[in-house]
Amino acid sequence: MKIVVSAVLAAGVALAVAGTSYAALDAAAVIKTRQDGMKGQGGALKGLGQGLGSGASAADLKVFSAKLVASSAQVGGWFPKGSGPESGVKTHAKSEIWSDAAGFATARTNFATQAGKLDAAVASGDMDAIKAQFGATRLACKACHDKYKAED
Ligand code: HEC
Repeated sequence: MKIVVSAVLAAGVALAVAGTSYAALDAAAVIKTRQDGMKGQGGALKGLGQGLGSGASAADLKVFSAKLVASSAQVGGWFPKGSGPESGVKTHAKSEIWSDAAGFATARTNFATQAGKLDAAVASGDMDAIKAQFGATRLACKACHDKYKAED
């Protein structure tokens, strides 16, 4: 009996601790990091597009495609539970990110896949392949925004 009671107590403590860390989430900081990260991705995609338009070499584009690969690996960490509209902090993150976690994960994975292919195309130096994959990557951003990012 004593063991059962302490197990129940232990579970209660674990819950209390989990509740504390949830409440302690600094939503404003998380959202700022996320929006800055997204802006960084926007800058990289734009830089790549401008480079393509102005006849930059594939080698010059590498910095942008590498940045997209690196940040696509971070997107998953930018959306902790509690950093949505319910946080009371201004954000364009829709609550569907958490209620449709599987769909959101698919959108993230798709973006990481397309960014990886873009980086590979840049490494190959094939400008037509880079252009095509630039479009596919942009569509991966848009697909997620269409579903999970609120309009202004
Ligand atoms: C898996 C989903 C997802 C993917 C993929 C994604 N985004 Fe976002 N993006 C969001 C969400 C959600 C927000 C709103 C974030 C917020 O306001 O807290 C956002 C916000 C932004 C913003 C506005 C940031 C600000 O100033 O507040 C920019 C710019 C942006 N994304 C660019 C991009 C680009 C460029 C790509 C692709 C290279 C991309 N995003 C890929 C979900 C995504």
